[in-house]
Amino acid sequence: MNTAGIQVRADGRLRHFLSTEGLTRELLTEVLDTAESFAGVTEQTVKKVPLLRGKTIVNLFFEASTRTRTTFELAAKRLSADVLNINVTASSAVKGETLLDTLRNLQAMHVDMFIVRHTDSGTAHFIARHVQPHVSVINAGDGRHAHPTQAMLDMFTIRREKGADFGRLTVAIVGDIAHSRVARSQIHALNLLNTGDVRIVAPRTLIPSHIESLGVRVFHDLREGLRDADVVIMLRLQRERMLGALLPGEHEYYQLYGLTEEKLSIARPDVTVMHPGPINRGVEMDSRVADGPRSVILQQVTYGIAVRMAVMSMAMQENHTAQDIHA
Ligand code: NCD
Repeated sequence: MNTAGIQVRADGRLRHFLSTEGLTRELLTEVLDTAESFAGVTEQTVKKVPLLRGKTIVNLFFEASTRTRTTFELAAKRLSADVLNINVTASSAVKGETLLDTLRNLQAMHVDMFIVRHTDSGTAHFIARHVQPHVSVINAGDGRHAHPTQAMLDMFTIRREKGADFGRLTVAIVGDIAHSRVARSQIHALNLLNTGDVRIVAPRTLIPSHIESLGVRVFHDLREGLRDADVVIMLRLQRERMLGALLPGEHEYYQLYGLTEEKLSIARPDVTVMHPGPINRGVEMDSRVADGPRSVILQQVTYGIAVRMAVMSMAMQENHTAQDIHA
């Protein structure tokens, strides 16, 4: 899916954020730098900046979500936008309204931005092709394709933990790569940021074919994949997306691919452990690791607000200066 062209305006500024694929290192760095300026905002008592005052943002979610939907909502509110939450499974889709009709009706209410999550790959892209010229679309996860704001909050977390030089980092992404939109968006972002060594660790049945063409190294043995890793990103087994028996069972999976303190000791002593959530405790990882000193899983959630504020304000920016953002 070519999402590069439609995402960026003629002058190089972001219009939609549909995928990390095809963007530039400069744009990703701008997201991270802008998020850095907002990270302070979320720690203040007065949590709002007026950047998107008067704008209307619709969270259009066709699939369940807690973290992503609520952090988008908080981010929009902290930018002073008005936010509508629409859970489409519970509304007009049930009555047979098409996606385009839902969209047209919402646009008739003068919406400025759609945050879209859908089980079908390509939905956010489809919507972006049909919105009015002033409207921006942010992909909050489409099928197995992409989840770019999750990838950017992960990059933000890595940069906060390890510094800006991704070139010296070894990052291991472990688990269900085949069904993961997060993994795909992370790999493109890590490549754009020139990460030294990007590893994929999973059983053969959970690795998409030709993944090496994305410039990653593939490991089937967790211990080998963890050796000297600076960052370990664990992914959830996406049982709802699995067709047929791809795995012998969760117990066997945990024995081979579950992250325990003992296996983690193979990575660097200062390793950072991440997970986009929701975690299956005792399947992908032991609670002692999830809640342990190397884990930044809850920081990821907090950083998600600043990163989503950054993406939304960049897509909506008319002529914001750095001073406006810091004001
Ligand atoms: C991810 C998602 O929905 O794609 N979670 C998230 O956005 N926090 C990953 C997952 O569901 O495992």
